[in-house]
Amino acid sequence: MRVLGIETSCDETGVAVYDTGLSGAAGLRAHAVYSQIALHAEYGGVVPELASRDHVRKLLPLVRQTLAEAGLTTADIDGVAYTAGPGLVGALLVGAGVARSLAWALEVPAVGVHHMEGHLLAPLMEDDPPEAPFVALLVSGGHTQLVAVDAIGRYRLLGETLDDAAGEAFDKTAKMMGLPYPGGPQLAALAEQGTPGRFRFARPMTDRPGLDFSFSGLKTQVLLAWRDSDQTEQTRADIARGFEDAVVDTLAIKCERALDEAGSDVIVIAGGVGANKRLRAKLQEMAAKRGGRACFPRPSLCTDNGAMIAFAGALRLEAGQHEAAEVKVTPRWDMATLPQVSANAG
Ligand code: KG4
Ligand code: ZN
Repeated sequence: MRVLGIETSCDETGVAVYDTGLSGAAGLRAHAVYSQIALHAEYGGVVPELASRDHVRKLLPLVRQTLAEAGLTTADIDGVAYTAGPGLVGALLVGAGVARSLAWALEVPAVGVHHMEGHLLAPLMEDDPPEAPFVALLVSGGHTQLVAVDAIGRYRLLGETLDDAAGEAFDKTAKMMGLPYPGGPQLAALAEQGTPGRFRFARPMTDRPGLDFSFSGLKTQVLLAWRDSDQTEQTRADIARGFEDAVVDTLAIKCERALDEAGSDVIVIAGGVGANKRLRAKLQEMAAKRGGRACFPRPSLCTDNGAMIAFAGALRLEAGQHEAAEVKVTPRWDMATLPQVSANAG
């Protein structure tokens, strides 16, 4: 089954074709991502309306380009998968509208995919994929979660962040230290030049039991350290290194705890922060020590992409799951048909 995947939940337009007839990484026939980073950079963050408009401009050309790269035409597509949430509503509607229309025109089924399930299953697209049960660490700009994966589609939340997500902490800390948007990857690059151990920050919530996270206090510690420092380039790199080590250690400690609790030795890592080199090395070392393994997607499939949506959608479509062919908005809507809120309103 050849599935076209469409991702438009935030500031990346992603399109891919996944073929379930081919195994592992070979199944990914083509994928392309158009990043809106330059568009949002001058505002220091994602502007939702600009994101929606740019998805409108880029999505269809990207679909054509991806099909051409795969050597396929629309006639070869057996199903369409699109991100149905969570995300920015306007941005999601662009992907949903295009995906549903394409599926309708091609007379193939379409399925709405949960963005975080897409991330979670991305490592299974690589060669020699792990089999459930395993534990997954989801670390993106909006989420930090530890999930017990009993089977594909059966997820139990073991722990999550009580405030900032790990990626958000990277981005906010980078911004505080004057790095341009989006700061996470830049902060990680800067940390490469940093001196380990010159700045040591707390490993939040590791001194008590439990699998939840809290990263907002760490950000404040970094701000104070930066403000009281000489603010040289080397100091900035040293603080970046101290911050990255604190986040990576904290994530690794909680991952190990989650494996103990779930009785597993396989950890799967996904989401943008999964591209972080030090996190990859640390979790690989932790898993190897206990005779298990840490599985990541290649870095380009950690951040938002269409491939993970095509893959997650393909698994559901193959299982016969899809929804009715409708995009749920109501363009003509008589107010008199609305249900009453309460008997004596006003
Ligand atoms: O999964 P993703 O592309 O989008 C969301 O669904 O949020 O994750 C983006 C997040 C951003 O916060 C970004 O700063 C972070 O992932 N990120 C990184 C790295 N690459 C991306 N954080 C640390 N180190 C990296 N190398
Ligand atoms: Zn994401």
